[in-house]
Amino acid sequence: MSSRLATRIGALALPNPLICGAGEPVLTAAGIRAALHAGAAGVIAKSLNERPEGAAQLEAADYTFLAQDHRPAGAGPSLLNRSGLAPYAPEAWFATLAGLDAAAARSGRFVAASLVLAAEAGAVRIAGLARAAGLRVFELNVGAPHAGEAAAGAITQQNDPAGLAALVRAVRAATQGMQLWVKLTGLATNLPALALAARDAGADAVVMMGRFMALVPDLETLAPALGTNAAYGGPWALPIVCRFLAESRRAVGADFPLLGTNGVRSGEDLARLALAGASAGEVLSVVMAEGFGALGRILAELEAFLERRDLSFAGLIGRAADARRGYGELPALSGRWRSFVPPETLERSAT
Ligand SMILES: Cc1cc2nc3c(=O)[nH]c(=O)nc-3n(C[C@H](O)[C@H](O)[C@H](O)COP(=O)(O)O)c2cc1C
Repeated sequence: MSSRLATRIGALALPNPLICGAGEPVLTAAGIRAALHAGAAGVIAKSLNERPEGAAQLEAADYTFLAQDHRPAGAGPSLLNRSGLAPYAPEAWFATLAGLDAAAARSGRFVAASLVLAAEAGAVRIAGLARAAGLRVFELNVGAPHAGEAAAGAITQQNDPAGLAALVRAVRAATQGMQLWVKLTGLATNLPALALAARDAGADAVVMMGRFMALVPDLETLAPALGTNAAYGGPWALPIVCRFLAESRRAVGADFPLLGTNGVRSGEDLARLALAGASAGEVLSVVMAEGFGALGRILAELEAFLERRDLSFAGLIGRAADARRGYGELPALSGRWRSFVPPETLERSAT
């Protein structure tokens, strides 16, 4: 693999910017090994927390891929689902992950522990267990989309900057010496303020953004697809993530690492995330649709793009974000709107 792909998240140097995000494909050691074998620079292992309800919800998890017209489609491009959490004791799961992480470190890669927030005390305790197990990276997800649907208190979103700062300070104290990454929601609009709060409270990086919540009426059954509201993601989400990355980069500064997630389906998409300010990208749905081979495909596509343009991945980071202008800075385009209306609009008699 070429050095064009190299990136870094603060002190953590990585051979490439592709991370397999948390989710069911990496709910087992075999899945994590398969993701690394396929080329991922790292894996965020399936999340857990201290509440049994989150793990119980895994038994009622359901999934459907949807086409652009919102009808069920074999393998994508969009994914609607409700998920649950890993049904493991953290001590046992983290011991497994620490063994995988130590092996991954030999080729400059990593395996991270992840927690979906329920409450601060549980997060601090479990983060401490990850550190005690010898793990190097802890991802704290404070924005899981299922918070409003799960059993009360089982999954919590923290979208208030002051509340987030207090939480991150507490988890930071329990994870000294580790990389602490904070994953933010896709259901709030104050991501730059949240990213800033996480940075100032001691996070090493911020990941954005969680998927959206949706209701997809099914025209066959006339009922909601999957029977509930559910988390929804697809390639259409990528440009929205890019805008929040760019806005957050402006808030936290170019030196603070941001990671992008939500909607990456190709190597070109990973380049788009970087241009918007991401130092790496987390992907998952594409692995559920195509298998772990999708990771190798994405890396090959990214490498081909970089070679074609004689660019390096690190050289892409933030370029489009920093080239943005405000609407007020633009010259007049004298009536360009006329090219985007039906001809009747421009008939002479119209006023
Ligand atoms: C079925 C499923 C389960 C997921 N489980 C978790 C999880 O346990 N913890 C977490 O932080 N994110 C979880 N995610 C979010 C993914 O890690 C990823 O950030 C998100 O799906 C957006 O990227 P994608 O478009 O590549 O799927 C899950 C996503 C899906 C689809």
